[in-house]
Amino acid sequence: MKHLEDKITQATTLELLEKVRIELFGKKGAIASEFAKLKDVPGPEKKAFAEGLNKNKTKLQKFYDEKYEILKKEEIEKILQSEAIDVSLYGNLESKGALHPVMATMDKIIDYFVALNFAIEDGPKIEDDFHNFEALNLPKNHPARDMQDTFFCGDGAVLRTHTSPVQIRTMLKQKPPIRMIAPGAVFRKDYDITHTPMFHQVEGLVVDDKGEVSFANLKSIMSDFLHYMFGEVEIRFRPSFFPFTEPSAEVDISCIFCEAKGCRICSHTGWLEVLGCGIVDSNVFEAVEYKNMSGYAFGLGVERFAMLLHKIPDLRMLFEGDRRLLEQFR
Ligand code: DAH
Repeated sequence: MKHLEDKITQATTLELLEKVRIELFGKKGAIASEFAKLKDVPGPEKKAFAEGLNKNKTKLQKFYDEKYEILKKEEIEKILQSEAIDVSLYGNLESKGALHPVMATMDKIIDYFVALNFAIEDGPKIEDDFHNFEALNLPKNHPARDMQDTFFCGDGAVLRTHTSPVQIRTMLKQKPPIRMIAPGAVFRKDYDITHTPMFHQVEGLVVDDKGEVSFANLKSIMSDFLHYMFGEVEIRFRPSFFPFTEPSAEVDISCIFCEAKGCRICSHTGWLEVLGCGIVDSNVFEAVEYKNMSGYAFGLGVERFAMLLHKIPDLRMLFEGDRRLLEQFR
């Protein structure tokens, strides 16, 4: 009996225990062979012998069952440990998207002006002639309308060619002082390496009757903004023309591709044009019935900023949705 119990004790896995079970309880096992001896036991002793055997068998069975439970528990424990899933581990991040570089650039621009307390204004993308042209000192048949290749939508409506109409909408809906930017999509009939039919602008407008609304103030804000965007660059203001501002300026930064030495991208001038601005023309104030106000305005192309910031050679790449480009901005 003892040596049979030892066999059970020595089994360290369920697999080994199963072998022991067959050895002990199987058809040709140790128990069976003990029972086989019964036929040779003389009649009067048979009963006692059989009782002894049964008692041993029951005891052994119980011993076996206990061992089985212990090993089974151990086995389950092992499986639980080896198959455990740590739900707090990071998942597979491969297809994670990213903000499009144009939107990221837009956000960066917006952040600057929001920090200076500029409000964000919006307007419709389908505009009427009054807001897109007329009120911005671009009367019908004025040659300056030629500067913008317009998509006409019929009934005098156009796809807005710039975000400047939001200036007009804002001045018509509220009284000065005004400090606003208008980010958004604009549309022009144009398609080449620096033009796409849809692109984004950020317009800015400040109006007040205080002396601080001056060209000097405009110049200082634009310079600070461009340093914030492009770091240590030279900045120059060039006299220019826009119908809605007088005087007007275009603003250049020193070329960040060649460090102003002159390259293909800056047309060997050492300068890159980045925005337009000026003092609000009195005709614009007249159109919105503002009296005795001063204002300055500015406008810039977001794609151009994104291209310069990330040295993207062809504007159209920003609109092709090629994941190889986009993945670089994760
Ligand atoms: N609206 C002009 C354009 O689309 C950009 C612009 C230039 C806006 C000068 C302004 C400004 O407000 O003062 O080309």
